[in-house]
Amino acid sequence: MNLFDVYPLYPVEPVRGCGSYVYDVEGQEYLDLYGGHAVISIGHAHPHYVEAISKQVAALGFYSNSVENSLQREFAERLGKACGYEDYRLFLCNSGAEANENAIKLASFQSGKEKVLAFSRAFHGRTSGAVAATDNPKIVSPFNRTKNVEFVALNDLEAVEAKLAEGGFCAVLIEGIQGVAGIQCPTDEFLRGLREVTTRYGVTLILDEIQSGYGRTGKFFAHQWAGIRPDMITVAKGIANGFPMGGVLIGPQFEAWYGMLGTTFGGNHLACAAGLAVLDVIENEKLIENANEVGEYLLAELRKMPRLKEVRGRGLMIGIEIEGSAAELRRRLLFEKHIFTGGAGATTVRLLPALGVGRKEADRFLAAFAELINE
Ligand SMILES: Cc1ncc(COP(=O)(O)O)c(C=O)c1O
Repeated sequence: MNLFDVYPLYPVEPVRGCGSYVYDVEGQEYLDLYGGHAVISIGHAHPHYVEAISKQVAALGFYSNSVENSLQREFAERLGKACGYEDYRLFLCNSGAEANENAIKLASFQSGKEKVLAFSRAFHGRTSGAVAATDNPKIVSPFNRTKNVEFVALNDLEAVEAKLAEGGFCAVLIEGIQGVAGIQCPTDEFLRGLREVTTRYGVTLILDEIQSGYGRTGKFFAHQWAGIRPDMITVAKGIANGFPMGGVLIGPQFEAWYGMLGTTFGGNHLACAAGLAVLDVIENEKLIENANEVGEYLLAELRKMPRLKEVRGRGLMIGIEIEGSAAELRRRLLFEKHIFTGGAGATTVRLLPALGVGRKEADRFLAAFAELINE
């Protein structure tokens, strides 16, 4: 059987990783500033993580959500403390799309309304509701197309208010920082306005922190820079450093009833062990502080480079808008300089490294990048 051919691949295969580096079969080292698409939060093959998962799988890898699993309670308690949402409740699932799907469903159940307001160029995943709220018609099948989702421009509060005034909306869904769109930041002022207007209209505010959360921007969640508290927050990617895991943080105003949401794999023993190990390392190694410090350094140094069109982002979520083809530059960074980066659109290079990436790695990237850009 062949693979269903939906991914354009680089001819390179990492087979081993350590911290911010990966290695191919020949032992060639690559600096990883892509983090497997913002997933590698604590670094590749962190010994504490490896030990925690190994011990758990040897004891019990999986049971089901019909019996007690104290690891889930421990994880929820630890996550609540780490991010400052101790009064929220956690629903665990397996991916980012699923987290958004469940958040939308919950907002709709609670309000009895069916419409979602999302933003131009948003990406929220590929399952039914999540892809409908994704502003990319190419990946929305006729089955997923719906009049229940509308889009307005990012940072346009008047447009949001005009839509909410029409009625019928259960939720506004917004990324902490738009990732797939090429690192587009909602302003702090816009997020505060969004909080005010959604509260006034009784509409649930859902912050998709799947890419921007878990310490990446130098705070646990990107929206915390604006000092707001959304009604729900969705997480995935960095939550378990590569073990598939997602979650919805749910405000105290939402009522749960048996059978309302559910999943076979969500919150399984192995995922919780991985998630707990990630929280240990984030705390013990002060990775959020590091993301802030190294991120600010990278942003400042990149902004000094004369030939770039724009440098956007916060912490270790960085979009570099270049003059020429981002795909070509990324290919050269990978094969000539052995550095993995991410892309977004035709002209943006995206940096999403592990949160423990150091100044040494930042300097190596800056030198390589400057050399290729200035050729
Ligand atoms: C902001 C955002 N939301 C949702 C998703 C979907 O996550 P997953 O691929 O785990 O379903 C992504 C993935 O890139 C994302 O960046």
